[in-house]
Order: sequence, then C-alpha cells, then structure tokens
Amino acid sequence: LAQSNTFKIGLILPMTGQQASTGRQVEAGVRLYMAQNGGTVAGKKIELIVKDDTSLPDVTKRLAQELVVNDKVNVLAGFGITPSALATAPIATQSKTPEVVMAAATSSITEASPYIVRTSFTLPQVSVALADWAPKNGITKVVTLVSDYGPGIDAEKYFKERLTFNGGRVIDSLRVPLRNPDFAPFLQKVRDENPDALFVFVPSGAGAAVMKQFLERGMGKAGIRLIATGDVTDDDQLNDMGNGALGVVTSHHYSAAHPSAMNKKFVAAFGAANKGMRPNFMAVGGYDGMHVIYEALKKTKGQGGGDALLAAMKGQIFESPRGPIYIDAQTRDIVQNVYLRKVEKVDGQLYNVEFDVIKDVKDPGKSKK
Ligand code: DHB
Repeated sequence: LAQSNTFKIGLILPMTGQQASTGRQVEAGVRLYMAQNGGTVAGKKIELIVKDDTSLPDVTKRLAQELVVNDKVNVLAGFGITPSALATAPIATQSKTPEVVMAAATSSITEASPYIVRTSFTLPQVSVALADWAPKNGITKVVTLVSDYGPGIDAEKYFKERLTFNGGRVIDSLRVPLRNPDFAPFLQKVRDENPDALFVFVPSGAGAAVMKQFLERGMGKAGIRLIATGDVTDDDQLNDMGNGALGVVTSHHYSAAHPSAMNKKFVAAFGAANKGMRPNFMAVGGYDGMHVIYEALKKTKGQGGGDALLAAMKGQIFESPRGPIYIDAQTRDIVQNVYLRKVEKVDGQLYNVEFDVIKDVKDPGKSKK
C-alpha cells in the first residue's frame, strides 16, 4: 500500500467565545512557522486542519475523535484550556497519536497520557519565581485571587507554598469562576483585608478586566500592589490597559519585549503577517509546537507512526523566541527560563520588560511526587 504523501495536523483551538484570543494567537503562531519553514517536510505535504472547540471540553473530545478516525491525522495539537487538553488525553492514548499541548498549563496535563508533549508552560513553573521575588521587595502579606480550575489552583498552591517558605504569609485565597467572572466583590474583600499585595492568575484574555477593576477601585492608591503571572499582563491586551498598569511586576516565560535577536525577528514577522498584532505567550506556544512537530517529522524521515514521532519529540532542544528551551524526555514537559518583568513604556507602548531570569526551570509539579 502506498504511503500517504500528506502529513495531517489537527489543530483544535477556541476560535470563538471567551478564549478566542488564545485560538487567534496560537493559530497565527502555527501559520507563521509554516510560512517560514515551508509546507513540505521530509517529502510530506503538511496539511493543517483547524477546528473550533469553543473551549468546551466535550466538543474538543468529539473533534479529536473525528480528526483521528475520519481525517486520520498524524498529530493532534492546540488545546486552549486545561479541560480541553485533558478531555483529549484518552483519545491520544488509545490511538497512539501525539498530542502537542500548545496553550494549556496545568502541571498534571502531561501525566494524563504518555502521548502528550507540551510547548506552553506550567503555572507552578512561573509562580514560584514571584514568591521568591516578593518578600525581598517588601511584600510579605498577600491575598491570592485565581480562576477556579486547574491552572489557578496550581498557581495558588505553589505561590503560597513558596511565599510561606520564604517567611511571608497568604492571609486569604480567593477563587473566581472561569466563566463570566465578576471580580468586583472579590476585589472589595481584598481592599478590606489590606494586604501588601494581591497575587492574581486568570487565563489569557481575562487580564484586562482584572486590571480595570483593580484600578477603578483605587487598590493601588490604597497601597495594595498587584503582582501576577504574565497571563494577566498578556501581550495581546497589555497595550490597551492604560498607564495604570505601569509598574506591575509579573513572572512568566515569554514577553514580546524579550531582547533576543530571534525574538525581534519573530515579533516583526508576526506583526507583518497579522495586521500589526503583537504576539503573546500563546503565539509562541504554537510556533514552538510546530517546530517540535517539524523536527520529529524530519528525524523520522516522514516514515514514523505515532510512537516514532513521539520518541523524536522527546529531548528536543532548541532556541525559541522566548529563549532556550527543551522537551524533558522523561516528563515530556517543557523546561525553560522564567523571567521577572515590570510593565514599562517603551517607544510609547506598554511592555513587560524583563529585569531578572531564572534559567532552565523544570515544572516543580513533577518533582513533588
Ligand atoms: C490555561 C489557559 C490560559 O489562557 C492561560 O493563560 C493559562 C492556562 C489553561 O486552561 O490551562
């Protein structure tokens, strides 16, 4: 039987609904990588099939099943939120199809299937750095505010654990619903509790609403600092948040202002291909995810099934627009630098400007067990 000359990638993303900015950014990152690296790899024509799961995990699972059974995709990729990545895990396992997670970031995702490889990040990975920074900078009494699902619970747990270890205190831990959150009553409570800082995690796309409410309630003027994972000062929204965002310190793995030559080229090419859009961390997860897939296809000379592709994804090491990264061969999770950043104005625009780096950070969630 003649082998197919196409290599199919099923890209499942939230293209509509509350997580639509994630879908738009990841897809743009994927398409930029393809435009720069060609549509044929190891003799195979790359076919990208994009599906909108509206960020509902039941829809993600049905789409993944259809892509595997009907379209016979070689790789499943994308996954905007944790429940979508988890819902697909059994299908990846049963069909031996690599599942490249480009966006979702709960630590445990990679343990849900031996076929999962991640090119985004984990919340424990980025939260710990901020809990080391805070007490050295006059912040010891903190309230945490997170979205009430996987990544938020990871951020809350790992931030609190490390801050406490460092002699600080989390005096209250607040959780807001993922869908249609109203931050107002929570922020009122924080104001009354009067901590040194409020630590926040919300998913990409929800940061601007948090920032607006924080500023409108005069929290900063009341002496409460906002600190967060970089999901809150998301490059997709940051420049529209206004000068009130200046000075906010976050920790994360990617900033559009990362000063490497590779990133400057990436940001320029991304903008040129997308009407001036600024890439965020989701775009980089998509771009690097495609690199992992292309390199696995090259290494297997276009002949590999799911197991061979997966083996060729493990241990990959390369330079990303975010800095040097690798896919840990044991955990299939990403190892990367975590940066401390402060919102500053650069050429009249708001950016997360990096001021410190913790190199080669593994997901702390894995070494816990
Ligand atoms: C997840 C989604 C996000 O938009 C984000 O910024 C971090 C994590 C998630 O659902 O895993």
